[in-house]
Formats: sequence, structure tokens, C-alpha cells
Amino acid sequence: MNQKFAVVLAAGQGTRMKSKLYKVLHKVCGKPMVQHIVDKLKSISVDEIAVVVGHGADAVKQQLGSDINYAFQEQQLGTAHAVLMCKNLLKDKVGTTIVVTGDTPLIKEETLKGLMQHHLQVNAAATVLTTVLDDATGYGRIVRNQQSHVERIVEHKDATAEEREIREISTGIFCFDNQKLFAALAEVRNDNVQGEYYLPDVIEILTKQNEIISAYQTDDSEEGMGVNDRVQLSYAEQVMRRKINEGHMRNGVTLIDPATTYIEADVVIGRDSIIEPGTYLRGETVIGDDCVVGPQADLTDTTVENEVHIQYTVVHQSTIRNAASVGPFAYVRPGSDIGEHTKVGDFVELKNTKLGNGSKVSHLSYLGDATVGQHVNVGCGTITVNYDGVKKHRTLIGDHAFIGCNANLIAPVQIGDGAYVAAGSTINQDVPEQSMAIARERQINKEGYAAKLLRKEK
Ligand code: UD1
Ligand code: CA
Repeated sequence: MNQKFAVVLAAGQGTRMKSKLYKVLHKVCGKPMVQHIVDKLKSISVDEIAVVVGHGADAVKQQLGSDINYAFQEQQLGTAHAVLMCKNLLKDKVGTTIVVTGDTPLIKEETLKGLMQHHLQVNAAATVLTTVLDDATGYGRIVRNQQSHVERIVEHKDATAEEREIREISTGIFCFDNQKLFAALAEVRNDNVQGEYYLPDVIEILTKQNEIISAYQTDDSEEGMGVNDRVQLSYAEQVMRRKINEGHMRNGVTLIDPATTYIEADVVIGRDSIIEPGTYLRGETVIGDDCVVGPQADLTDTTVENEVHIQYTVVHQSTIRNAASVGPFAYVRPGSDIGEHTKVGDFVELKNTKLGNGSKVSHLSYLGDATVGQHVNVGCGTITVNYDGVKKHRTLIGDHAFIGCNANLIAPVQIGDGAYVAAGSTINQDVPEQSMAIARERQINKEGYAAKLLRKEK
């Protein structure tokens, strides 16, 4: 059986990024570049992935996890040298190896698949993924012979003026016959302008051995783009964002203004949902059908069911259930669960709070560490006093309870089902079900006193 292996090059320093953060960990649409590549390799189901790490090795390993192999390249002597670091992992195995540079986050899954299929079909020893660019500056150029077969790849810095005119470039992504690759790597030398061992030189070595060399060209020139500095990083972000947005629109999501809609790579959105301008959907956020999100919603790792409305609101790591309405100007913090047909209105903050179906917190409230039952009305200005300076405590509110405006509920405290808390109360004892609690000074009216006060002032 022909096994498939992948090598990801991620050991270079990324000097041109001028960053403390290691290059391949810079994010594009919320995900580190190298993670984009590993995810795509996983989805084309290669049998084994080896990532070459060097600078920031620990950080890269931590990002990518333990289900892949790592090879360590202590000194960055070039891309051929980097692949050679996988010798112990791969050298003798029979199969096809796809090599991907860690800084090409825009590469498409279909293209990787197409490259692999083409390589196997033509029975090549090596196949390079190429594309044609208007401005090929900085890339390796594809040199073809008179029969237009790929002969070698010349790096920009080593190219003659004539070779620099070539607009067909190497994306740095290749397929190789695994054993032929490792045999050829041993012959790569560093007699070039940069004094590096170039992976592209393997092409010339195999050409000389009369092996079949092929090129697979993608006509989407953007996907082959390498990210070497922050200008290219922002360009990659823009291209990927556009592609993500188009993907959602093609799946039946309306984006009112794609240019101001920022959706990260792994977000899922159901049909007939409308995403209004200024909205950020991040991380593992999932949105159901028929929702209206935005204007200006910022959701991270949040699950939203169907027919939910969210406006001018920030939500982190929470769940919002069917037909709930959140915002404008709400702040929903981690661990919250907002039930079906609920309302969370303006200037309401929820933290680690469960709100039962049909309940309402319409204005100006803070509910932290609370469990609120169904059909509860939480009046304007209600505060759960959840922190005593040392510990956090929970507030429990039963079904059909009514909390009057401006109540303080000092936790731990429990309000029973159907109980009624009078406005302005500071509650520090449990309220039994169906009863009413008033915890405030009684009002005294002093008749005629207003006029007396005014006289005194004079
Ligand atoms: C490389 C290719 C070039 C191609 C371009 C496509 C070489 C010599 N050049 O150029 O033909 O057109 O990519 O984007 O291969 N790396 C290591 N160890 C090293 C050196 C590099 O792991 O010793 C890794 C880097 O982390 C990076 C990748 O290899 O992810 C490519 O290196 P980079 O320096 O960006 O190569 P380019 O100059 O862009
Ligand atoms: Ca590069």
C-alpha cells in the first residue's frame, strides 16, 4: 500500500516578522499559520505528519499537540537540511511525502489533494506545486526545458536577470517519492548566495538521475503565497477572510457587509442567518439557523441555537438557546447558559449564570454565579452580590419568581419558586417559595415638611 507522509517546515526564525512570537505561530483569521497547515493535512488524511521545529520548538509543539511527530533542527541551515531532520522518522518508508512550508496558510485542501493525485498519476519522483504571479520577487522560479519539463528551481537571490523574468514560481510545496527524496537530500550542497541547503535543489538532482519531475499548477495564485513579514501577514488575513466569508454566503448565510465581518476559520453558521456589519465570530463559535447577529457582536467560543437575536454585544464561552434575544449592549461572560425565549437586555452582565427558559433580565443588571429558573422576571438594576472578598457564592432563583428593581441578592442565597422580592431590597436570607420579601427601611412621610426645609435654607 502506498502510504502518505507529510513534512511541515516550521523551524525558521522568521526574522522578517520582527517579532517575539515565532513566525509560524502568528495567526491568520484567528489560527496560527502552522495550525492551518496541519489541519489541512489531517483532513486529506495523510498517515503520518512530521513537523520540523527549531526556533520556539516548545511553543509550536504546545500549539500542535502530541498526535504528530516532531523533528528538531538545531541550526537553520536551509529547507533541504530541515527535511533531512526527518530522516530517522521517514527515510526507509515506502510511500509519498508531501512537504509544506509552515508559512503558506492559504493553501487549499483541494489543491493538496490534487497535487498528491497528480503526482501519483504521472508516477513522478517529485512534483512541485507552482503558480504564476505578476510579481514573483522573492520566490523560487521554475526553470523549464525546451519540452517545457521542469528542470530545476532557482531561488530569487541566485537567479540571473533573465531567470528573474520567469513568473511561474515554486510555492515551496512538493510531493516526493519518499525514498528518492531522502536519497537526493544527501546530495544537496550549499554553494549558493545564501550558503543554505535548498530543498528545491532536489529537483535538479532528480532531473539528472532521469527521474520523472512534474509540476502541478494552481491558477489561484493567492493560495501559494508565503508569509514572511507583517505586510504579507495582513494580506493573507484579508484573502483568507474574504474566502471564509464567501464560503458562508455560498452556504446560505447573509453577510450585510463582508468587508466589516470578521469570521475565524473554524466558525460554523446555519442557513438564513444574517450577520450584520462590525461583527466578530471567533474560535469554535457555532451559530444555528435564522439568527440575526450584529451589528457589532463579538462572540468567542459560543454556541448559538436557532432564531436568536444578538446586537452590540460581547459573548465569551457561553450558550444562547433558541429564540433568545441578547443586547443591545450586553456582556455575557464565560459559563453562561441563556435559555430559550429569554431576554437579556441593555447593560446587563452575566457571568457563569444559567437563565431558564422564558426569563427576562431586561436592563442594567449584574448576575454572577446565579442559577435562574424559568419565567423569572429580574427587575432593572438587580445585582447578585456573589463575592465576599474571599470566595464566590451562588444565587439560586426559582421558577416564576419576581425580583423587584434594584434588589441586592447577597449570596449564598436562595429565592424560592414564585417568590416576590420587593424593589430596593437587600436580601441576605433565603426567601421561601410563594412568599414576599421586603428588606428595606419603611417609608415615613412628614407632611408639610418640604416647605419648612426650604425656609430653613434661607
Ligand atoms: C522558500 C523556497 C522558495 C519558495 C518559497 C515559497 C527554499 C530555499 N526556498 O523561500 O523556493 O518559492 O519558500 O514560499 O526552499 N525553514 C526551516 N528550516 C530552515 C529554513 C527554513 O524549517 O533551515 C522553514 C521556515 O520556518 C519556513 C519555511 O521553511 O516555514 C520556508 O522558509 P523561508 O525562509 O520562508 O523560505 P523562502 O525564502 O520564503
Ligand atoms: Ca517563506
